[in-house]
Amino acid sequence: MPKPSEASNLQQTEPKRLSYPKMSLRPTKATPFQLPTQIISFSYTPEHVLEFTNSALRYFSEPPLGAQLGYGYERWIRRPEERGRIDSLLKAFDRAKGEGKSPVNLDDVGVVSWRGVMTRILTAPYEDRDGWDMNVMLVNGTMYLEEHLTEAKIAEKNNLEPRHRKMMYYGYAFESFSTSENPPGHDSAQLTVPRSHPTAPPGWGGDVDTNVQWCSVVRTKLGDIRLVIGGEVDCVRGKYTGSPDTFVELKTSLTIRNANDEAKFEKKLLKFYFQSFLLGVPEIVVGFRTPSGQLTTMQSFKTIEIPRMVRGKPGAWDPSVCLDWGFRFLTFLRDTVRASDADSIWRVSFVPKKGVHVMKLDSAEVAVVENGEERVGLLPRWYWDKIWT
Ligand code: A3P
Ligand code: MG
Ligand code: MG
Repeated sequence: MPKPSEASNLQQTEPKRLSYPKMSLRPTKATPFQLPTQIISFSYTPEHVLEFTNSALRYFSEPPLGAQLGYGYERWIRRPEERGRIDSLLKAFDRAKGEGKSPVNLDDVGVVSWRGVMTRILTAPYEDRDGWDMNVMLVNGTMYLEEHLTEAKIAEKNNLEPRHRKMMYYGYAFESFSTSENPPGHDSAQLTVPRSHPTAPPGWGGDVDTNVQWCSVVRTKLGDIRLVIGGEVDCVRGKYTGSPDTFVELKTSLTIRNANDEAKFEKKLLKFYFQSFLLGVPEIVVGFRTPSGQLTTMQSFKTIEIPRMVRGKPGAWDPSVCLDWGFRFLTFLRDTVRASDADSIWRVSFVPKKGVHVMKLDSAEVAVVENGEERVGLLPRWYWDKIWT
């Protein structure tokens, strides 16, 4: 099968289009979104090996104000960017189906995707800068979505300007300062000096290794579409209960100095909000920093209260516009791709202020081999075979 990344694979048929929602037309009744339930969690080890443990789970611990978020930058172990494959999500989903504790019937699931993809879809009505592309397969009534990244885009992400790379690091350093591998109250006397570095400043939770991640997979529902969504969770507050009720999302942002900064921050809150909302994360802790990476203040937000906070403000947005759009987008996508064989791949492209268009790629009938593993379109062969058994 030709690689879906090659533009020449696009068939010369007219793309199907869904135009941008009109902001003046607020939905009268919001599309309901069900409170997400965790079906499984997993960790990535420092070798980035997936294991069904909570070894990478971290606990929130108050970061010291004044902390320098550039600390440890030269020791950052950075995982290279890669294609938006959903293989590990499928591995986890497949295991959750078999576990019986929280049985999920694949026949009922409308969409399987990473949380980042769903965030992009839902926030599209307010996105006026960055477009995106996704690949889609519809197999037995379930849509599988992955972000489509070209080699050029991956290379760009891996070759950030030093200034951007440093700013990105501040976000991870804030995570380190705000978390511990032990729950609160744990006798961690021997751990006050993190193993990773003997001269670490107070509150440092260990050197940053972006191979290591803790992920939660949830099921939820948008309108009548059942979703299975996986994503990284930064830490839990207090204890891990096995459900998202103690999950915490950590974010950094530039200290707000004037009304203009405030409006920018309120706009950013849209992404913070949906990123957290989709996994049922109830709390977002924002660390405000100076341009040179010093932590100045911190603020904790209750995810569900954010829409009311921004209502009527200069950077205002309305989550019901996003949910309504998301539901229409997924329905449109399903109706469009339904007219093809199970192994067809489709490409959805979003153009800011215009909308989305969908085109069918060449048939994925012949399995490909990628990194020594056989695939059928977006799916690993082992998963594809399981669908039919
Ligand atoms: P901040 O969000 O604090 O800037 P996440 O917030 O999703 O847990 O991600 C942790 C950090 O990864 C972010 O910290 C940011 O530094 C970096 N990051 C995540 N998504 C990114 C993106 N799309 N572009 C650039 N950096 C990103
Ligand atoms: Mg994170
Ligand atoms: Mg975060």
